[in-house]
Amino acid sequence: MDKLLSKSEDVLKQYCAVYGQPIKHSASPVMHNSAIAELGLKWQYIALEVAPEKLGEAIEKAKSIGYIGLNLTVPHKILALNMVDILDDSAKKWGAVNTICFEGKNQNNVWTPLGQMTNFHQGELRAKGYNTDADGITLALQTDLGLNLKDLKVLFLGAGGAGRVAALKLAEEKAAELYLVNRTFSKSEELAAEINTRYPSTSVSVGYPQNIPGKIDLVLNSTSLGLNDNDPVPIDETKFKLANARSVFDMVYNPAETKLLAKAKAAGCNTSNGLGMLLWQGVKALEIWSGQTAPVEVMRNALTNYIYGNE
Ligand code: ATR
Repeated sequence: MDKLLSKSEDVLKQYCAVYGQPIKHSASPVMHNSAIAELGLKWQYIALEVAPEKLGEAIEKAKSIGYIGLNLTVPHKILALNMVDILDDSAKKWGAVNTICFEGKNQNNVWTPLGQMTNFHQGELRAKGYNTDADGITLALQTDLGLNLKDLKVLFLGAGGAGRVAALKLAEEKAAELYLVNRTFSKSEELAAEINTRYPSTSVSVGYPQNIPGKIDLVLNSTSLGLNDNDPVPIDETKFKLANARSVFDMVYNPAETKLLAKAKAAGCNTSNGLGMLLWQGVKALEIWSGQTAPVEVMRNALTNYIYGNE
């Protein structure tokens, strides 16, 4: 009987998924399923390993079988720009898709997320691509470090995919001065040129800040240095002393305290790891799919327990 019951419940269930490669250690299912249970939705969120050459097919498949939505992670976010039916302005603006919402037409012929329709049976479907990563960055900085982003002076370490979006988003939020440092110099130059074109009121330069009055408000690490125990710190302390920064944010969240964060703390800075980015991009995705306010603290606790356990 129990089996039968769970079978019939499964038939009623609708699915969301995260696609990536690798995906085994993704914390997204635990985070989203905690919120789904809290909201009383009959959904289940799963993680699926999808190779980049199969991404288009996998998106179409999810659409055809009535998935609510998808999250995309490495290496799919840029590829997916050409694999959805329509792009939200957020995906156009940041040039990457990390969230897909499947939509059908409601009785008034208006495209509506499947997760917000109780009696959608058949009809045309479309995949709409969003970017919630950029909001994830700013919400994490605001909530975890208490920063007001306007007029900030920021030193960016890293100019890869995540670093680019972070720098552009802070420029959009009217940060005052951005300093870009990256192992591959040409990438920071390209990013500086893009910021100059898109957000001319933000002053941007390549390299460590030199002889500026006062402190830098924020040092933000978006390099992958810190993920492994034997990684060096991502900052050259002969060129910039952490004591000259008020706050340090490390996008790495595992380990919970990277060498950079430990040094920053010892130098008297406010510090935060990148868990909040994962949290807030997920919060925003769930709100797009469900149209409901996500239970942020439930999601944060689920993430913390899953990633750090009883550390
Ligand atoms: P993501 O999407 O997570 O940003 P990415 O686009 O591959 O990933 O960017 C990784 C960032 O970490 C880049 O800034 C990269 O520097 P390069 O542009 O020079 O590749 C930086 N990074 C990775 N390994 C590094 C290392 N060993 N030393 C310094 N920087 C490193």
